[in-house]
Amino acid sequence: MGWNTWNTFQTKINENMLKEMVDIYVSSGMHDAGYEYFVLDDGWMAMERDQKGSLVADPVKFPQGMKAFADYVHAKGLKFGIYNCAGSKTCAGYPGTRGHEYEDARLYASWGVDFLKYDWCYTDSLNAPEAYKTMSAALKATGRPIVFSICEWGDHAPWLWAGGVGELYRSTGDISASFVVRKPIGNWTPQSVLSILDLQEAIRKYNGPNHWNDPDMLEVGNGMSYVEDRSHFSLWCMLAAPLAAGNDLRKMSPQTRQILTNSEMIAIDQDERGIAAFKMAMPDSLELWIKPLKNNEMALCFFNRTGSAKKLNLNWKELHIADTLSGLNVHFDNQVFKLRDVWLKADKGLTDGKLQTEIASHDVLVFRLRPVSKN
Ligand code: GLA
Repeated sequence: MGWNTWNTFQTKINENMLKEMVDIYVSSGMHDAGYEYFVLDDGWMAMERDQKGSLVADPVKFPQGMKAFADYVHAKGLKFGIYNCAGSKTCAGYPGTRGHEYEDARLYASWGVDFLKYDWCYTDSLNAPEAYKTMSAALKATGRPIVFSICEWGDHAPWLWAGGVGELYRSTGDISASFVVRKPIGNWTPQSVLSILDLQEAIRKYNGPNHWNDPDMLEVGNGMSYVEDRSHFSLWCMLAAPLAAGNDLRKMSPQTRQILTNSEMIAIDQDERGIAAFKMAMPDSLELWIKPLKNNEMALCFFNRTGSAKKLNLNWKELHIADTLSGLNVHFDNQVFKLRDVWLKADKGLTDGKLQTEIASHDVLVFRLRPVSKN
């Protein structure tokens, strides 16, 4: 869990603004809620390496240098992350790491870097698994534990080879703050929340502790409606996704803060089994996403992706949920659960009657279910 500069600021970052962000990260309760990494994405470097071939921080954006900034982040109790790219340049045109893997890794370790996001622009004919393995080995050789975030956009099926190379790997192209529609930006069309969601179920079996499918960073607080932000966050937690907030913390509304710091939703995301949710179709185009949790508990997320409100009429006893991957097999006619509404933070009785409600367009209803022991 962390925060990353890219979704709001792209390359328009500087030391003073980011120090303010670090302060608010702590004072706003984000750190207490579990967010830990503070990550600089693309645009932190000078346009050229120095005469010795070392990367240098942009002297205008970071006049005190990167070590001083890393020290500031650490002094606040956070971990520090940085970005580079496997190619000759980063996606925004700054110096890439190709041919400098070991020296760049040593430089990051000397600054106290705890996390490296490693992108895939300007890579020509590079072999993706090999390029990421080289950087992974370079990071390990420093002796400093550095989380390695693989970002080749799912182009080379990283779920098949990234385990043991990095701890997380992007499974799709870039997200945007759009819930349904993929809106073109010039000659490029980023993903939407739903287009990313729909690519995740097929790869859920590869997800697990220390090899996380990464459906990209959060757009909560970046322009979608409250309901859409809450659904986006809920669905990412159901997927056991890495949670990287990407909003301007200085302008965070109480609603955005309430979404990003919901401890019960975060506990579902961070559940130690690390199993990503699967989907069941429900009547009237509703979806039910199911995430098996520890202690025979589970999270259920009823989701309405349609453009109009939908009625949910569920007789719990008619529900049967089975999942080969996790071994979950629950007949609700012979097993009863306690229901906890994760957004209302309220107990809602037992699964022994009917669930009748309405779910607004693009909204979710999320429950945590705890088994009632049989006497
Ligand atoms: C790629 C990545 C993004 C971001 C930008 C930076 O598009 O997928 O997440 O890091 O590069 O240029």
